[in-house]
Amino acid sequence: MGPHAASRPLTLSEQADELEEKMMNELNDKIATKSALFAMADGSLDYVGGAELQARNPGKYFLMGADPRLPKMPDKPTLIDFFKHRFVSMNHLLQSATLALKAGHEEKVVLACLLHDVGVAGFIRCDHGYWGAQLIEPYVAEEVSWAVRVHQALRFFPDESVGYKYPDMYLKYFGPDYQPEPYIVEEYKRARGHKYYMTARLICVNDIYSFDPDAKVNLDDFVDIIGRNFKQPKEGLGFDNTPSSHMWRTLMWPTRFL
Ligand SMILES: [Fe+2]
Ligand SMILES: [Fe+2]
Repeated sequence: MGPHAASRPLTLSEQADELEEKMMNELNDKIATKSALFAMADGSLDYVGGAELQARNPGKYFLMGADPRLPKMPDKPTLIDFFKHRFVSMNHLLQSATLALKAGHEEKVVLACLLHDVGVAGFIRCDHGYWGAQLIEPYVAEEVSWAVRVHQALRFFPDESVGYKYPDMYLKYFGPDYQPEPYIVEEYKRARGHKYYMTARLICVNDIYSFDPDAKVNLDDFVDIIGRNFKQPKEGLGFDNTPSSHMWRTLMWPTRFL
């Protein structure tokens, strides 16, 4: 019988203690910390400093490595490892890329579709095109990262030449009165005349048909395309000293103290 077998329901502070104890066990007695952004996502600017947090957990050290609650990453992680162990919503990406492949598009377009929402899948929603592009920029052709960056803006604007309308999903998600912010409108205007415009536009075209929860897709279908078009560093993503290495490390270790 556990300590709370009595019929009395737990008080809130007992529940909090129990949660904290459970978390500590899972963390091998280390203190995991949440970045400011995690709290802001709950509408809070609360901040507990290191000294206070440690005082609440006497005798414990802060987590400075991998979070044992998350799947273990290999020492030299590849893009495939991030797909398997970190990206939370792989299906949509695989569906987009599968459609692009079936439509006979060239490999850069297929890769752009496969990676277009890595920002959402691994990092953050707000400005996901920009985050995703920055993450992959050192490893792919400029055309691919450019298209990933700009698809975020193009999604809001129709292009009849390829049969792309304003998405019904956006009407449903954001309401009929939603207007994209001026920086998105500016991004769209700049993109219109760009030499890679159609690559970004093709992301949008394949994007809208890729939300079927029952679609049969497989990452294995894209291993060769990734191999030919994504420069996997021999040191592993995160340890190769590029302008986005720190982003891959943060994905690997999101609860490290520093
Ligand atoms: Fe997107
Ligand atoms: Fe998407």
